[in-house]
Parts: sequence; structure tokens; C-alpha cells
Amino acid sequence: MKRTKIAQLLAAEGPVPRVLVKGWVRTRRDSKEFSFLELNDGSCLGNIQAVVDAGIPGYDSVKEMGTGASVSVEGELVASPGKGQAWEIKATSVALIGASDQDTFPLQKKRHSDEFLRTIAHLRPRTNKFGALFRIRSELALAVHRYFQERGFFYLHSPLITGADCEGAGEMLRVTTLNPGQMLGPEGVKADFFGKEAFLTVSGQLSAEPFALALGDVYTFGPTFRAEPSDTARHAAEFWMVEPEMAFADLGDNMDLGEDLLKYCIKAVMDRRASDLELFAKWVDTGLSERLDKLVGEPFERISYTEAIDILSKAKKSFEYPVGWGKDIQTEHERYLAEEHFGKPVIVYDYPKDIKAFYMRQNDDGKTVGAMDVLVPRIGEIIGGSAREERLDRLQARIDELGLSCESYGWYLDTRRFGTAPHAGFGLGFERMVMLVTGVTNIRDVIAFPRTYKHLEF
Ligand code: 4AD
Repeated sequence: MKRTKIAQLLAAEGPVPRVLVKGWVRTRRDSKEFSFLELNDGSCLGNIQAVVDAGIPGYDSVKEMGTGASVSVEGELVASPGKGQAWEIKATSVALIGASDQDTFPLQKKRHSDEFLRTIAHLRPRTNKFGALFRIRSELALAVHRYFQERGFFYLHSPLITGADCEGAGEMLRVTTLNPGQMLGPEGVKADFFGKEAFLTVSGQLSAEPFALALGDVYTFGPTFRAEPSDTARHAAEFWMVEPEMAFADLGDNMDLGEDLLKYCIKAVMDRRASDLELFAKWVDTGLSERLDKLVGEPFERISYTEAIDILSKAKKSFEYPVGWGKDIQTEHERYLAEEHFGKPVIVYDYPKDIKAFYMRQNDDGKTVGAMDVLVPRIGEIIGGSAREERLDRLQARIDELGLSCESYGWYLDTRRFGTAPHAGFGLGFERMVMLVTGVTNIRDVIAFPRTYKHLEF
């Protein structure tokens, strides 16, 4: 007999004479004549209760069916007389699949701290919260693909190993087959696997651009890596980024796409994962429902960098980092703008060229570039992008000005040499979107097995 998932059983429209369920025991309660087993199989937040009468086949092993054990239950799906559940299983036979030692199984209590659960990342998906989190994460990934596919964007698989530092920030993890002692100067590099320096990519953008200038609209969605030596709740060394790139598009189109994509993905989770989302609204962040409603229902604010600096310098708040035209907008400033000043997402555009990457389109004022960051409450920056400099002479001059080597960007300049076109794109931090949707405040809690500064386990 084929097993039925609990999500399907809980949504049943009527009794079913014979069902087979397999899952993990959440709790067991015994009386003389029967036992109650609460089972969860990960297919949804809800459990199904099985009533196991003494004496049915397999009943002898019920005493070993403690919290965490995996079991199989066959029986009849009947209307439940109990409160809070429509259906339960009247078992006709049970079997133990995998025992779980009650003295050492770490998930006995109802609630554990996030810090403790991080130390058992291999078991935390068995909790209600992390089960719900990773179902939502999966739903969001699907929503990203659906969004782009419905709009004629092609999914591009950009390489993970690269020779180019897309962001020019030098925060790259090196890829090598050499042992540390062998890495001696240029000769050592020549002896290395690729015969040159190689790194894990910080962004798929430089691969996406040539494809946008061929296929029109593309997106990448994959892992990216950054060796930022900062131990914050929003930075991981390995994270996923969604990077659309559009040909014949400008900064305005880019802002529209970013706002629309975020709204679409949040709405998808609200519609399709409502009960998982409810857990977060109830237990993790009581302001979540209101914030998400506002996020999907109202237009984002759009202000220039210069206006943002003006607002920040007039703010009646003392910031740790100084505010001034030409300085970076720090997380505390981003959060002030989105959380306190506007109370909703803000898109800041036209940043000073000196604090942004070489590829961004230069504005006519000679001081700013067509960059945009989307800032959201509680997180700060969630999207970073720009119109790209499509004019060969301007791009070449900027590369020279920054002392980058035109030689290694020769292929990139070719795209401007042959049939260049205005184009724009951005990177959406996928984990930050999961945080935004769930209200979870630490990036370590939205990644299956997080890799962060000084931390690599499992
Ligand atoms: O603003 P960033 O650095 O943009 C780029 O890399 C561009 N090349 C993207 C593009 O235009 N195609 O990063 C984009 C987003 C950030 O807004 C943030 O959400 C996320 O990626 N991000 C991180 N997320 C988690 N951990 C980190 N260390 C991150 N660094 C960036």
C-alpha cells in the first residue's frame, strides 16, 4: 500500500477506509486500553493523531514509539471527536521504523532557543518552526522561477568559479588545489589547477549581461559567496542571489521589476503557505501580518540618494556612523529610512559614483551613477542593482580611472563594442527575502547549514 502524506489527509473531504501514514512521533500519550500518537511527516505544519488500540498488530512496539521515532501506521481515516482536528486515524496496525532514544534525543521540549537549535542544524528541521521555515523557503524559490518564466525571462546558469571580482570589493573565497605551503608567488599560481587565480563568484551579473544582450531578459538564481569578515545577523559567506538582467531597459524599469518581484513572491507565500506563515505571525513577529499586507498593498517609496542624505541629516536620532553626501548609507540609516521615516520599503537611487561599482551607468551630473538599492523594514538592503554603463568610451574610462585591468575585462567590453544596448539588472538576496517574509532576524536561521565568518559545520 502506498503511503499518503499528512497534508493530504488533513485536507480530506470525507472518511477513508484504509490509509497508510509514515512519519515521526511528536508526542505519545498512553492509557490502559489505547495510545495516542501525534505524527508529523514534514508535508505540512499539522500533525495527525492516531488512536492505537491495545492488542492491534505492532502494539507491542508502541512503548518504543517515543518523541522523534519514525513509525508507520495503517488504519481508517475517521472524523475526530477531539478539538482542533478534523480527522484522525483509527489504527489497525502500527510498526516502528526507527527508534529514538528518549534520554538523548535533543528535541524533547516544546520550545528551544534559536541559539541551541543552531548547534543541531541537522535536527532542527524536525521542529515546527524550522519545518515551516524551509517549506516557505522552497515556496519562495518556486515563486521566483514562476515570476520570471511567466514574463519571458530565461533562466541562466552562471558559473560559480570565476576569475573576475564582479563587485571589485576583493571579498572573494579562493579556489585552489594547492596546499597553503605551495602557494608561492606567480609560479605557484601557474602550477595551480586553472593556471591562474580562481575564486568563488560574488555575483552572476557579469555572466548575465552578455546573455541579456543576446536573449533579451534573463535571470540567474544560484549560490554566491562572500568572504566578508563580519559577524552580523544579515551576512553569510554562502548565500543565494536572484539576478535578473534586462536588455533595452533603464533604471526606472529596474525599480519596477524589483518592487513587483518582491510583492509577487510575498503574495505567493501568503496564498500558498498560509498556515506555515501563521506560525511566524503568532510566535516570531507579531507585527508580521500587518507589515506584509502593507508591503504587497502599497507602492514602495522612491527617493534619490541626495534626498535620503537630506532626510538622514535632519533625523532626530544619533547614528553610530556619520551621515554626509558621498558616504555610504549604513544599515542603521537604511533601517531608519524604511522603518521609522517611511514605515515601508524605500528605493534609493542615483548614488555617488565613488561608492559604487565600475559597471554602473554614469549620470550626466558627472557625480552620480544610476544605482538603486531597495531597503526594507527590519533588514535594510534587500536588493542592490543598477543601469549598466553601455557606452564603450565611458566604461573604458571608468575601468582606467579605477586602475582595473582592461585586459581582463576585454570580453566584457566586447559586449559594448558589438551591438551595445541600454540594460539594467539587480541582485536580490534570497535569504534576506526569507527573513522579510517570516520575520526571522538572523540569517543563520533561514539557511539549512549556514556558512558564516569563522563558522563551518556539517
Ligand atoms: O548589492 P550587491 O552586492 O549587488 C551585486 O552583487 C550586484 N552584482 C547584483 C546585480 O546587479 N546583479 O548584492 C545584492 C544583494 C544585496 O542587496 C543583499 O540582499 C544580498 O545580495 N547580499 C547578501 N546576502 C547575504 N549575505 C551576504 N554576505 C550578502 N551580500 C549581499
